[in-house]
Amino acid sequence: MAMYGRSAERGTPPRCVNGRCNMAKMPPVVTCSRWRRFPPRPHIRPSDFVQVPCLWTADPLTVRHILHSGNYSKPWETRVSAAKVIGDGVLVAEGERHRGQRAVLNPAFGPAQIREFVPIFIEKAAELRDVWLDALSVQGERPVINVLEGLKKMTLDVIGLAGFDYHLEALNAHGKPNELNEAFYQLFSVTPPLSLYRLLMDNLPFLDFFPDRRARAVRRAQATMRRIGMELIQDRKAAVLREVTGQRGTIDKKDLPGKDLLTLLIKANMATDIPEHKRLSDEEVLSQIPTFLVAGHETTSTAAAWFLFALTQSPDVQSKLREELLAVDTESPTMEQLTSLTYLDHVVRETLRLHAPVTFTLRGAERDDVIPVSQPFVDRYGQLQHEIRIAKGNRIIIAILALNQSTAIWGEDALQFKPERWENPPKEAAEIPGAWSNMMTFSGGPRACIGFRFSIIELKALVFTLVRAFEFQLAVTPDDITRVGMFTQRPALKSELAKGAQMKLVVRPYSR
Ligand code: HEM
Repeated sequence: MAMYGRSAERGTPPRCVNGRCNMAKMPPVVTCSRWRRFPPRPHIRPSDFVQVPCLWTADPLTVRHILHSGNYSKPWETRVSAAKVIGDGVLVAEGERHRGQRAVLNPAFGPAQIREFVPIFIEKAAELRDVWLDALSVQGERPVINVLEGLKKMTLDVIGLAGFDYHLEALNAHGKPNELNEAFYQLFSVTPPLSLYRLLMDNLPFLDFFPDRRARAVRRAQATMRRIGMELIQDRKAAVLREVTGQRGTIDKKDLPGKDLLTLLIKANMATDIPEHKRLSDEEVLSQIPTFLVAGHETTSTAAAWFLFALTQSPDVQSKLREELLAVDTESPTMEQLTSLTYLDHVVRETLRLHAPVTFTLRGAERDDVIPVSQPFVDRYGQLQHEIRIAKGNRIIIAILALNQSTAIWGEDALQFKPERWENPPKEAAEIPGAWSNMMTFSGGPRACIGFRFSIIELKALVFTLVRAFEFQLAVTPDDITRVGMFTQRPALKSELAKGAQMKLVVRPYSR
């Protein structure tokens, strides 16, 4: 049995398991065809940032073990840098604190609550449609729109309203400047230039006393977010007390139904049947605000942009989908109506499989461990191995996109956009330990995406409104499209990389 990592090779540099590791030459997005083969050979190599061995895996059995065994957590280096910006919310917290936060948050993301948000999804999708109609009225023969920009604004407005009943007004070009929207933009939309000082600041805490210009701007934005967040929390608490205690004097979990995620969270947290030690502090509640804003907006807008891109590459799919959507005799469908649209469902699944916005995730081993593999493999010493031994502290890269695109699982046409595959998905896909639809897009296990139902219904509502109203064509050649971003793969143009993420489409109002 081979042993990798510190305790096995103390003092020697970590090495690739199969001796042919070329990961260093690979882009962060895992698209190499060799990695799509099954069984993918495990790779181990020093990670770029922390010099510890790092195992790359797209083996469903290995991934299941890592996500479910409880032996792995999010590595400290990713948690520290995320916590500096968004605080210790559910995306960052570990162990007991994470379990406590999830327990209080989970009910707010259940199907009954998501149903309440559908009118918000539809209202904001219609607002985006109208913004694009206005833009088209002043364009010429070939009206080109960077659809990603509008989609980002739409999803930000949605999370503002559904998350905190707060009007961020990102779509409203004529509205007054909005303090929280500006703080959010400052924190998350401005990509900081990478500098040595920035890298040092992330790793040497004492440098916090000597902030650079970017760090000062971030702190101002955080202060604004904190002030508004605390006001929102105090308001909601007072409202919950007025509403519920006034009636009976107790707050039960069944009182949960409410308007927005924050109110639901506060109600659940104030419920008299929650033991005192399990209640979240105001700080913990507060850190969920930037967490929802970050986790819920860029991912869904990126998925929607890839969705529209996929439609431009498959005009037949676009027409068939429009036909199905136009057969619904309302502009404001309910959740049940949206979920009953079979072809829409298949196109959403296929987009999220092929264009998973989050391409990989990281874990660190909490203790020495033995990891199962689906099939034996030959290591760099020529030895047949039936499992992988991992040392405490080693890192694991779970290759989300590689699993979603594996030819062994999805067939030789794995890289093609084929919504029909969902009429009869391959039985091998059942091995993938994903939280939704046998794919890894929303990860799996106790740290799977809490917002997956939210984002799927939001995506369906968005597509429902936009595809009924417009026809979409790619405004550039397909080979100009590329992907940028580390964790989230956003669309961009090779010819305009300096402009960052964008998706330029020719958009024309659809008339029957
Ligand atoms: C297409 C849209 C989305 C995608 C692809 C996506 C993907 C993911 C993935 C892969 C993770 C796991 C990350 C990891 O293990 O390191 C995650 C976690 C999370 N997501 Fe999403 N997400 C989406 C939408 C949303 C939405 C709309 C919300 C909230 C409204 C949300 C909230 C969260 C939170 C809070 C976590 C952390 C959960 C935990 O650690 O317990 N996500 N998401």
